[in-house]
Amino acid sequence: MLSVLVVEDEQDLCALVAETLTDEGYAVACAKDGAEGLAAATTAPFDVVLADMRLPKMDGLTLFRRLRVESPDTDVIVMTGDAAVRDAVALLKEGAFDYLTKPINFEELKVQLQRLTAFRSLRRDVAAVRTELREPPSSRDRLVGHSAGMLKLIKRIETMAQSDAAVLITGESGTGKELVARALHESSGRKPRQFVAVNCAAFPDTLIEAELFGYEAGAFTGAFARRAGRFKAADGGTLFLDEVAELSPPAQAKLLRVLQEGIIEPLGSNDSVKVDVRIISATHRDLRARVAAGLFREDLYYRINTLDIEIPPLRSRGGDLAILVQHFIRRYANAAHATDGITWGAWNALSAYSFPGNVRELMHTIERAVLLAAGGKIGIEHLPNVIRGEAGAPAPAPAMAPLRSALKEFERAYLIRTLAVFDERKSKAADSLGISRKNLWEKLKLHGICVTPDSQSDERAKTDGLPSVT
Ligand SMILES: Nc1ncnc2c1ncn2[C@@H]1O[C@H](COP(=O)(O)OP(=O)(O)OP(=O)(O)O)[C@@H](O)[C@H]1O
Ligand SMILES: [Mg+2]
Repeated sequence: MLSVLVVEDEQDLCALVAETLTDEGYAVACAKDGAEGLAAATTAPFDVVLADMRLPKMDGLTLFRRLRVESPDTDVIVMTGDAAVRDAVALLKEGAFDYLTKPINFEELKVQLQRLTAFRSLRRDVAAVRTELREPPSSRDRLVGHSAGMLKLIKRIETMAQSDAAVLITGESGTGKELVARALHESSGRKPRQFVAVNCAAFPDTLIEAELFGYEAGAFTGAFARRAGRFKAADGGTLFLDEVAELSPPAQAKLLRVLQEGIIEPLGSNDSVKVDVRIISATHRDLRARVAAGLFREDLYYRINTLDIEIPPLRSRGGDLAILVQHFIRRYANAAHATDGITWGAWNALSAYSFPGNVRELMHTIERAVLLAAGGKIGIEHLPNVIRGEAGAPAPAPAMAPLRSALKEFERAYLIRTLAVFDERKSKAADSLGISRKNLWEKLKLHGICVTPDSQSDERAKTDGLPSVT
């Protein structure tokens, strides 16, 4: 039987509801205002909170929203007078289970609780089956989100999966361009064949052609044995050209020819090989502006951009933040750091923050916070300074520092965060900071910030581009 917490300031009504439900076999407790209700529900989680909309100390709306964050497994039924029915209906959209109008019809309440019992048991079964099936890595990395922007995106992916036309995916760094490309491949008829990702920025100009089209032994210094390129590897499947804006002019010219003719010529060979590949490209840059500036071929731009997908930044997808936070907490809260959710203060700081590094930044933030929380709830103290600061939380306040040293401290923290957001890929970090790579190196040295040597982070960038079996 469900455990029920009734939060109602009218003592008589509260007692009546409690008595009726106890007779039905439910375990019932009462709280007389919102604050007491929240304290009770977060100390010993209840299955259901039955909450009045108008409550002293904390109204029903706030109580509901806080419970969503601090006790996500609790379902909420709201009770309301006629005047506030619209508010109650709005809450259904945010995830309340149902609402009741006053005066309370007890038969209706009983039916709602029976429905809720069935629903909760179904939800548990689904979760158990999911864990049992040990979701494969590709769906572990599924697109999470239910904002209007995300639903539109998912619909667009489904439509585009029906076609073989080239797709260009744009969006700020960390918005999930690669994830969308994989989802597109997985939903298409090409799914049984390879999804091959190439990071165009990870190869020097001279090597990208060899990488894409393959080469014969002796085609250039270092080409000891023949090697098939990524185009060949993706035959029948999908080739994902990540960071496509970084292609050099010769590589652009060659790619254009391949796309026009569907034929590749490995370096050093006279043979032409026919390939059937769907091209998906991605960039965080304004490619049209690069065309206008003469940095990217216009004809190639139209070839790779038959269809386009623009992923909105996380800060404009309001509804997604809560569900992504829960998703990443679940992902990182393994046995060793089983985390007990997140506090309201920490949640407020996250929702006030603009996430310039988008979902990737959120993911790193939660991963770190789960570690620091060491089994407890994630609190504001487990979040990076930059996020705490934007929420208006008081800074740890050392003695007032002179402007020069305060600025220096800020720069240091900002550099560290930017590097974390870009997985220490320095060219990307420099790009986002609007400074040159050289300038970034000098600043890192000045602040004594240790980073992975370039060769290793470049290696990592390259492995991003290795073909993956899906
Ligand atoms: N909607 C989402 N749901 C779940 N995970 C997501 C979502 N969007 C992004 N991620 C995760 O965030 C991380 C960054 O995503 P991804 O690498 O696809 O971004 P990107 O747009 O390609 O970034 P960049 O421009 O820096 O290459 C990945 O680990 C990805 O799994
Ligand atoms: Mg990417």
